[in-house]
Amino acid sequence: QTILVLNGPNLNLLGQREPGVYGAQTLADVENLCRAACERHGYTLDFRQSNHEGALIDALHAAGADQAAGTLAGVVFNAGAYTHTSVALHDAIKGAQVKVIELHISNVHAREPFRHHSYLSPVSAGVLCGFGVHGYAMAIAALAAT
Ligand code: DQA
Repeated sequence: QTILVLNGPNLNLLGQREPGVYGAQTLADVENLCRAACERHGYTLDFRQSNHEGALIDALHAAGADQAAGTLAGVVFNAGAYTHTSVALHDAIKGAQVKVIELHISNVHAREPFRHHSYLSPVSAGVLCGFGVHGYAMAIAALAAT
């Protein structure tokens, strides 16, 4: 089975973007740690990033179909700022009936008030935030265990 790790807007800038908040590791480093975590748990990794809301929606729809076919265990989804704005991503997760772990590198609840609300949490199986990029490995472990 595959685990899809899906990254939204601006996460391609990891490493150079606000390193005090998001750390020094790049998206390539995150991909490597996700691959190691998937191998540890016996899954194949599909790792993607897009700055485009529609591309993320398409990926969630495809993930729902793959999950129904039994080839996908679920999705670790860092939707970036779309977390706080996107009814369309909420509807996509719900409509595709796909199992999503919502993931944030930073502790969004300790930051600006506009980051405290998530459109994704009500349609996610679980939420992880505040553990830096290690959260990706934790979310993969959570998918493997549940
Ligand atoms: C983020 C938190 C969001 O508020 C922000 O817009 C991001 C990254 C995180 O991983 O901590 O782009 O999802």
